[in-house]
Amino acid sequence: MKLIEVKDYQEMSQVAADYLLSKVKESDKLTLGLATGGTPQGLYEALINDHNKNRTSYQHVSSFNLDEYIGLSGKHPNSYYHYMNDHLFKHIDIDSENTHIPSGKAVDLEKECEAYDEKIRLHGGIDLQILGIGSNGHIGFNEPGTPFESNTHIVELAESTREANARYFDSIDEVPAQAITMGISSIMKSKEILLLVSGEAKQVAMKKLVEGEISENFPASILNRHEHVTVIADQEALAMVKGLELLNR
Ligand code: F6R
Repeated sequence: MKLIEVKDYQEMSQVAADYLLSKVKESDKLTLGLATGGTPQGLYEALINDHNKNRTSYQHVSSFNLDEYIGLSGKHPNSYYHYMNDHLFKHIDIDSENTHIPSGKAVDLEKECEAYDEKIRLHGGIDLQILGIGSNGHIGFNEPGTPFESNTHIVELAESTREANARYFDSIDEVPAQAITMGISSIMKSKEILLLVSGEAKQVAMKKLVEGEISENFPASILNRHEHVTVIADQEALAMVKGLELLNR
């Protein structure tokens, strides 16, 4: 795991954007894995700024999002489908046919999960996966206890996750109880992973990721077994980490 230590959220977002843009520019065909939530918003803003200024094209780029709430249609303002259009897709020239988000409204959700992994496989896998981390160590919506072998599946959201995401809804009662998420195994098949971590709320998670054991009780710990992970973390997120030398190994 390689660490890039940055000053703050803004620098994290710009460094991540520069990294992602270098991949977009050097590839003829690129498949991205994308995340939602607060963490990647600055990255997406930086990509939009670049697109407006430099016209970097995404015509050769496909994307697969990590997750979606079950029960929310794409029109719902809190669906991740809506988030992605609003925060990125409608501002750049990516072909909407090439953007993929699991459907939380599929009639047969199990079939939707299987079809999603198959679609990723047919695309040749994910070249670069962007990840955020939950304070309980979740990646995607893989909550503590999720088997490391899991493929795309349906999850019951942890109460702490619903509380963390309630900020986007009128009340916690409106936060869906279930989601569809790429599994740990689906994520680990990505050729390369970029994990973004910012702020005080992620200090304990960051410490466990670096210093803790690899365990299904802390899903992100599996990233220590991936061969090509870069963590871009800001000073606040790193404040509790003593063993920084454990990174960059
Ligand atoms: C979102 C996702 C989640 C978030 C995590 C952190 O697609 O997969 O794992 O990355 O919940 O959320 P924020 O960035 O809002 O702190």
